[in-house]
Amino acid sequence: MSEYKMDQPVGASPLDRGVQGIIGEPLNRVEGRRKVAGDVPYAADHKVEGKLAVGVAICSTIGFGRVKGFDTSKAEAMPGVLAAIVDDPRIPRETAGFSDEKLVTGNDRVDSYGQSLGVVVAETFEQARAAANAVKVEYDPGEGRFDAGAGRGGARPLGDEGMVPDTTVGDIDAAMASAPHTLDRTYETPSHAHAAMEPHAAIAVWEGDSLTVYTSIQITSGAKKKLVNTLGLGSDKARIVSPYIGGGFGGKGGLGTECVLAAIAAKRIGRPVKLVITRQQLFHLVYRRSDTVQRMRLACDADGRLTAFGQDSIVSQNDGRPFYEPVPLGSLALYAGANRSFTTKAYTLNIPHCGSVRAPGEAVGILGVECAMDEMAEQLGMDPVEFRKLNEPEKDLTRNRPFSERQLVQCMEEGARRFGWERRNAKPLQEREGEWWIGRGMAAAIRVNMLTNAQARLRIEPGGKVVVETDMTDIGTGSYTILSQIAGEILGMPIESVEVRLGDSLFPAAFGSGGSMGAASSGSAVALAAEDAVAELAARMGTSVKDLTLKDGHAIAGNRRVPVGDLVAQKTIETTGTIKPGAMAKQYDQAAYGAHFVEVAVSGVTGETRIRKVTSVFAAGRILNAKTARSQAIGGIIWGIGEALTEEAVTDPRYGNFANNDLAEYHVPVHADIPHLDVTFLPELDDKTNPLKIKGIGELGIAGIGAAVNNAIYNATGVRVYEFPITLDKVLAGLPAEAA
Ligand code: MOS
Repeated sequence: MSEYKMDQPVGASPLDRGVQGIIGEPLNRVEGRRKVAGDVPYAADHKVEGKLAVGVAICSTIGFGRVKGFDTSKAEAMPGVLAAIVDDPRIPRETAGFSDEKLVTGNDRVDSYGQSLGVVVAETFEQARAAANAVKVEYDPGEGRFDAGAGRGGARPLGDEGMVPDTTVGDIDAAMASAPHTLDRTYETPSHAHAAMEPHAAIAVWEGDSLTVYTSIQITSGAKKKLVNTLGLGSDKARIVSPYIGGGFGGKGGLGTECVLAAIAAKRIGRPVKLVITRQQLFHLVYRRSDTVQRMRLACDADGRLTAFGQDSIVSQNDGRPFYEPVPLGSLALYAGANRSFTTKAYTLNIPHCGSVRAPGEAVGILGVECAMDEMAEQLGMDPVEFRKLNEPEKDLTRNRPFSERQLVQCMEEGARRFGWERRNAKPLQEREGEWWIGRGMAAAIRVNMLTNAQARLRIEPGGKVVVETDMTDIGTGSYTILSQIAGEILGMPIESVEVRLGDSLFPAAFGSGGSMGAASSGSAVALAAEDAVAELAARMGTSVKDLTLKDGHAIAGNRRVPVGDLVAQKTIETTGTIKPGAMAKQYDQAAYGAHFVEVAVSGVTGETRIRKVTSVFAAGRILNAKTARSQAIGGIIWGIGEALTEEAVTDPRYGNFANNDLAEYHVPVHADIPHLDVTFLPELDDKTNPLKIKGIGELGIAGIGAAVNNAIYNATGVRVYEFPITLDKVLAGLPAEAA
């Protein structure tokens, strides 16, 4: 078994040696045709033995208080109803969670609206839904804290408790007091929902005391542990299967309520149970992204060099939950400034608790940073790109460590060139087309790069077929494809000869998809397993790895060219690769970078913003597949545009519910909102990151783009909005009369 720990820079990557020529190519998704033909099972589609019953969650209709009692008699008498379960102590009170420990359980108290209290199971979905609504719950309502604005005053410092511990360098107050140019500005972002296309769903099947749950989850091995701990099962008594996922965005990171409720219901009625969280329930039954308040402090000397750079933020969380939105995660290393402050405070809101949503940290944190940078550049009379280039640090000044690879300046320069940045007017309200004011803005993108423990198994079966197995998942990002490419490249196999099997907790554990570290972690494990297979093939060819060439399904050494299928005809090759993070993660500041350039048109009559043009350039290590990488990038950019212009989960402060809990009212961009997106990746190899020399790209695109939109709106209209999303009413309020 090949095990590798990232304690030193990698020398030659296994991918450097491959000659199959499929790494980096814009290959189609290997499962793409089957997906668009409706031929792969999403969570609720799996066919199972036995007659499937349907569960629907019973959800609280108050936001805070105690449950005094349930009356299920009416529900139980309704047509098709098999059970109305409110008496199981394992009913989760927590919506979902990442850690291995059990979900918080118990339906005697409510601390967020829409929390699960039980499950009704019936022959059909309609019967179950009607009966779930007919379960009477008697509450003793308490005083919940529902109002974001009201709670922030009492926020407590998180210190070391936050995911980014509070850090100060130098004396930011003194620097602010003495600098010729300062900016002290506060930006706000609202709660966000994941809004994945596929709802959370589970099918639970018991065979004796063994449970299989088919579900839609990003991280199967962690969820399996949490499932057995929540239900009180032996560790080998549960299996999670999640081969295809219609978007996760962090919301499917940890075990969800649906898995536990379906398992409880299936055991109770002795039949398999399917439970799909409805779109309206999802907003309350999955954790949200915290609202944030970000105080940005910047000070510059007379030449525009930053002397202070600070981001002090306030986030919310429901009581007793460990996750705090890591607002400054990407900000720490972005720019120069000898005096620095990054602190986070938290306050309690009794609304659905907070967790990972699409680039936790950067997606919101870079908004504050990059809007403030634009405003400071204006104050200095400098071009925003030039101001950022002037403040490019030689190292991470917060943690005092070198960068691994960083091409932020190159991204900005290439982006400016491709976009035609020289056409930008230095001042607002200069360019109009009818009622539309035209403006241009830019912002930097950064997303931390991570690596985590992962394992993969690889077999070369008689006939030469390669099978890769790991519990990594494909959340719609292309994992099947890039893992096929990695194995194919190293083993000299066309991609059709590689079958990748994912998303089953029985496979070797690879963490899964999350934190933009899935490709690096699982991909490295696959590469290491493939390397061992190469060594075995060399031995069977009677040659050394150095003298062996693998291409098009053949092993070539000296003057011999043998089909790999022949080399395994007698004996399958089976190998396992294990990657572990190491010292490189601490010694170097690792991140993927980018720059976004945006052109907007803003109506002088209504304040409506239209995105006209987006150019984004990224540098994110080796790119495994130009097509899936671009898709990841544009997905992030589109989310970021929504975050800038429309996205907001609106709490009703009277009840603690989200008032806009469906996709008609929770506005995310649709095709008509998005122009062609010009995306480029710069060549880069990073030998400090992982054996593939790649970086995570899943959450890079969303970082910064919203600030580029805001900066472009200012450039068009002269209106700066400090409270996201930048809805038309906020722009309109600031427009001068002559803009109409
Ligand atoms: Mo992601 S929000 O780390 O799945």
